[in-house]
Amino acid sequence: MRRHLRLGVNIDHVATIRNARGGRDPDPVRAARLAAKAGADGITAHLREDRRHITDDDIVRLTREIDLPLNFEMAATDEMLTIALRHRPHAACLVPEKREERTTEGGLDVVGGFDRLKPVIAALRDGGMRVSLFVEPDPSQLDAAIALGAPVVELHTGSYANLDGAARAAELGRLTEAAAYCERIGLECHAGHGLTFDNVGPVAAIPQVVELNIGHFLIGEAIFGGLDSTIRRMRATMDNARAGSQGGLTA
Ligand code: PXP
Repeated sequence: MRRHLRLGVNIDHVATIRNARGGRDPDPVRAARLAAKAGADGITAHLREDRRHITDDDIVRLTREIDLPLNFEMAATDEMLTIALRHRPHAACLVPEKREERTTEGGLDVVGGFDRLKPVIAALRDGGMRVSLFVEPDPSQLDAAIALGAPVVELHTGSYANLDGAARAAELGRLTEAAAYCERIGLECHAGHGLTFDNVGPVAAIPQVVELNIGHFLIGEAIFGGLDSTIRRMRATMDNARAGSQGGLTA
């Protein structure tokens, strides 16, 4: 059975460039609008505690002005929970957050943080959001996600993206097994982090993965090729990889 592979475009780094100077340009909401036209299925944005890229006002405008589903990446803190419940985006993806990190390093420790995450997940679900947990491709984390009532996990592809050769192949094997395990236990499986034109194919070919969230590479590559054509090329690369793995797309 063909499964459409959704592309969530993460616009955080449009805001990073804006914030380097202050002011309004470049506008991440304009990028979201353009992403929608170029074939994105959703918009992803991470409101960090330090507001280093997306700001509270960006979230207000994204929820008001963009028709695509918004995937709101957030740390499991009281502050972020309050903001999520105020705006009620389509999805809330819980990520680990360390102030000193450059980007989200490693997945959420769902096993170790079980009791702390429980009320946050329940509140997000009660607020009507589709909750996703950003995790390493580790079955114990997936079991804990199910036990907490999260319907979705996003597998962290950062290690896969950073490794080479046999080590990358081994990490791809872990991702492939984790995605199959998700299906067996009833979790919807997404993936993301560090994906590029060169490395997206094997992840897009994993049949149980139904969404990829991609940001930094798309925004960086847009400097050279423009955002529209960069997103279209990523969309086509993903679709070709998925078609190749399943003997052709049918819907
Ligand atoms: N998914 C999650 C949960 C993330 O935290 C990030 C980075 O913000 C991404 C996907 C996108 O990663 P990248 O910017 O490396 O494409």
